[in-house]
Amino acid sequence: MKMIRLANGNVESSVIALGCLRISPLPGKTVSKLIHTAIDEGINFFDHADIYGGGRSEEAFGKVLKEMPQLREKMILQTKCGIGKGYYDSSWEHIVNSVDGSLRRLGTDYVDILLLHRPDALMQPERVAEAFSDLQKSGKVRYFGVSNHNSGQIELLRRVLEQEIVVNQLQLSVAYTGMIDAGLNVNINHEPAYDRDHGVLEYCRLNNITMQAWSPLHYDQSDEVFLDNEKYPLLNHMLSNMAESKGVSPSAIAVAWIMRLPAGIQPIIGTTQPERLRQICHASSIELSRQEWYALYQAAGNHLP
Ligand SMILES: NC(=O)c1ccc[n+]([C@@H]2O[C@H](COP(=O)([O-])OP(=O)(O)OC[C@H]3O[C@@H](n4cnc5c(N)ncnc54)[C@H](OP(=O)(O)O)[C@@H]3O)[C@@H](O)[C@H]2O)c1
Repeated sequence: MKMIRLANGNVESSVIALGCLRISPLPGKTVSKLIHTAIDEGINFFDHADIYGGGRSEEAFGKVLKEMPQLREKMILQTKCGIGKGYYDSSWEHIVNSVDGSLRRLGTDYVDILLLHRPDALMQPERVAEAFSDLQKSGKVRYFGVSNHNSGQIELLRRVLEQEIVVNQLQLSVAYTGMIDAGLNVNINHEPAYDRDHGVLEYCRLNNITMQAWSPLHYDQSDEVFLDNEKYPLLNHMLSNMAESKGVSPSAIAVAWIMRLPAGIQPIIGTTQPERLRQICHASSIELSRQEWYALYQAAGNHLP
């Protein structure tokens, strides 16, 4: 497994991370097997949120940690806060209480990285700054970041935060490429040119903010993946051909596509099946050529200007 450095080089992480959104309904043994498979494959980074499974995902993970507490120090644990029921909340109270809940459920006394899960239209950056500083001083959180934020929103925070923003987690896959389309279609009067996120890809790269790709096998916000999906015949054909020639799975090629971007993007893998996770981890040893990368981009339905 390839390693990358986050947080200005202070955190050494596997380039591939395991996302824990979907683990809450699984039997305890399966959760344990998934986590151990991840570790066997060299994954040391685990992504959570207070709301995953209504808190039960963190609990399920915490049970495995309780059985094997020695695992904690080998792991980078990231969680998120800021989504309430029907509203977003970046208040001091919400952030601090949410972290206390995550720590209790995970059975740990600190998380490595805390992300604001979504932008909050009512955000007061000064209150976020107070919450982050209090959490850091108390030793409950080491580093801070955001998810689904654009560059302007990150700037607003950076003006007042004592800490660096080290991560921005956004949806990205070979079939969900808005951030890339805008950069390839500058000043062209058609839909792919619309910059929906304020140049966030370039902004994160310029500011040493690690981008993480959520839902790396999805093509929209529904629960459907593009793999083996009849809506993407050409993409699947090309993924299968490349997979066969490189001796890996199509899912590994799809994840390698994300990792080929020079921004150093960390895909967050959401499978609950240990064997699928193993297959995807082969992405770490593949480097797609420039031609292969562009061929997959176009097979997903995109056009170059
Ligand atoms: N920041 C945010 O707003 C945000 C939003 C969503 C997710 N996330 C994070 O991103 C992580 C990944 O999201 P995701 O679960 O949507 O990602 P994903 O890896 O794109 O999707 C995984 C889902 O696809 C299914 N799948 C179908 N065929 C598959 C195949 N051949 N290989 C692998 N999986 C296949 C999996 O089912 P099986 O389990 O049966 O394999 C699972 O339900 C989450 O766990 C969470 O940590 C963050």
